[in-house]
Amino acid sequence: MTGNEIRELFLKYFEDHGHTRVRSSPLLPANDPTLLFTNAGMNQFKDVFLGLDKREYVRAASSQKCIRAGGKHNDLDEVGKTARHHTFFEMLGNFSFGDYFKKEAIALAWDLLLNVYKLPLNRLWFSVYTDDDDAARLWEEIGAPRERILRFGEKDNFWQMGDTGPCGPCSEVHYYMGEDPDDPTKNRADLVNGPGDDTMEIWNLVFMQFERSLNDAGEIVQTSLPKPSVDTGLGLERLAVVLQGVKSNYDTDLIRPIVEY
Ligand code: ALA
Repeated sequence: MTGNEIRELFLKYFEDHGHTRVRSSPLLPANDPTLLFTNAGMNQFKDVFLGLDKREYVRAASSQKCIRAGGKHNDLDEVGKTARHHTFFEMLGNFSFGDYFKKEAIALAWDLLLNVYKLPLNRLWFSVYTDDDDAARLWEEIGAPRERILRFGEKDNFWQMGDTGPCGPCSEVHYYMGEDPDDPTKNRADLVNGPGDDTMEIWNLVFMQFERSLNDAGEIVQTSLPKPSVDTGLGLERLAVVLQGVKSNYDTDLIRPIVEY
């Protein structure tokens, strides 16, 4: 499957599930002095999550051009060291603005990965925020083996756009790319958010619930969002690695021609 086909399948899947297809916003965010470059699909919806803006839709899907070369999410230091970082990338995302929440977000992600892209379950790992028993239970109910649902803290499983803005606990899907998924000495839990390229994060589901902002004293305070929402990010180039059976994002049809040129 080509990168273009993977992107189209994602957008079509979410359109078929009631989402409005929204174009990528520019790499330079409009009206947001907190960001130099667009760093996630949710940027163009920031004010919708905060309840300051309203759209004609409550579900959206996009393929967002992103640059992570500084600030809170900086991939620049990883370029050349891993097979999966390259500062510019496309983030496939589905969004709920006060519509569905954890249960549907997890069910949609599961269905798309297992039944549409047909990823093998024995290569998948799932992570949830430390005390997010709901997300852990929902993954298990839908079919994830309990021993493949791991818990991580603020660094890995709490997502925020920058120091301020909408944020919330998140749940990720990771993929083991090594030779032998059935060998428990190779396809191991400690590789999730661990060293090497054998296991990589492919999709992050953020359960947007809070806003962090500065108070008059210049301190960061956290308040609840008007409505619980969903923001997800699936790395297009990473999914292409998986579906094209290559080892590095640079070997996918999305980037290889540029390297060759
Ligand atoms: N906004 C989330 C991320 O960038 C999905 O990981």
